[in-house]
Amino acid sequence: MASEGFTGVFDSGVGGLKVLAAARKLLPGEDFTYVFDRSHSPYGTRGAAYVRRRAIKITDMLVRMGAKAVVTACNTATAVAIDDLRARHPDVPIVGVEPPVASALAATREGESALILCTPLTASSDRLKRLVTDCPFSERAIVAPMPGLASLIEEKFAALGEIEGEIDGMLSAYDGRNVTAVALGCTHYYYVAATIAAHFGGVKAFGGAAVAAGRLRDELVSRDLLGGRGRVKYLYL
Ligand code: DGL
Repeated sequence: MASEGFTGVFDSGVGGLKVLAAARKLLPGEDFTYVFDRSHSPYGTRGAAYVRRRAIKITDMLVRMGAKAVVTACNTATAVAIDDLRARHPDVPIVGVEPPVASALAATREGESALILCTPLTASSDRLKRLVTDCPFSERAIVAPMPGLASLIEEKFAALGEIEGEIDGMLSAYDGRNVTAVALGCTHYYYVAATIAAHFGGVKAFGGAAVAAGRLRDELVSRDLLGGRGRVKYLYL
């Protein structure tokens, strides 16, 4: 029998739309509700308690509205809140998105570095530290907090070409570190992946949207929760 309910997806702004797009591609028959928490953005330069409060508030709201699953389409919220969200809603699958550290490190060789680009809050989180130290070749990882980059992308979303120079300026701190792979550890950065990759001479920039979408599909399939009409709603907070 087809399942009732929708999958709730949220982020501070446009970043999570990339995760929504990956999920819709994989699950075209499902219903989704996407929450832009723009009035509380950016998340990445705030304290962990603030972002955790927002993630709890939005997830509680989505579950009250009938969500059968929730995707925290934000690396920052995943880093500081996903354990709390799962503890509060043990019967609802909650899927996060994380910097693809293992994939980026696996693409490096001896003497090369993988840049883990993320928000300052993700960079300082225990979850990211564990993610890095648990990976083979973790000594090749450079965790690179990018204060202001998510906000810049949000503000200039309709004219991303105009911020290429600014992005180059931010990344220049890592020139000379033999960066040969990049992990995009913030969903906003997916929109400027080409600029980031080009800065380091055309390296591969790994994102986490498809992985999160695959996890969502696995959860819905294994819990027999598939079913919908391919509808999408957007909420602005
Ligand atoms: N897009 C979010 C992330 O993946 C947060 C960006 C922000 O609001 O700072 O981390």
